[in-house]
Amino acid sequence: MQERTLSIIKPDGVARGLIGDVVKRLEQAGLRIKGMKMIRMSKEQAKGFYKVHEGKPFYESLTDFMSSGPCVVMVLEGENAIEKYRKLMGATNYEEAEEGTIRKEFASDIEKNVVHGSDARETADFEIRYFFSELDIVSY
Ligand code: CMP
Repeated sequence: MQERTLSIIKPDGVARGLIGDVVKRLEQAGLRIKGMKMIRMSKEQAKGFYKVHEGKPFYESLTDFMSSGPCVVMVLEGENAIEKYRKLMGATNYEEAEEGTIRKEFASDIEKNVVHGSDARETADFEIRYFFSELDIVSY
């Protein structure tokens, strides 16, 4: 089933020069990039994006981190895109991520874990709309 999902290359991934490595993996897996931009979130924007985590012990630190530098946000489309991209990323905690995944290969911190991806259809919908209007999403 064709789906869309949101990908973020987090500030640690951008700062460490990992944009190309991440994008290469997405392309090789057959995920089409239908929208892409570099952004710098404000603290308020980061808090809104991660509202589901409000109240959790890592919320303040996570939203500080996500607003600390530029991110690359992408709309990915493809067959089972949500699950496919989650498999490419690996577990949130890099220590539990499978060999060969982005987080296993590049992350060394549960918070600064290089990438974010939507975890379900409803979240993908919310997250894509958070950064992209339908006009920013290219059909090809
Ligand atoms: P992400 O997939 O962007 O979703 C929430 C983020 O919170 C997660 O990746 C991590 O960057 C961060 N985080 C920090 N600590 C934790 C934790 N204990 N459990 C889950 N996420 C955490």
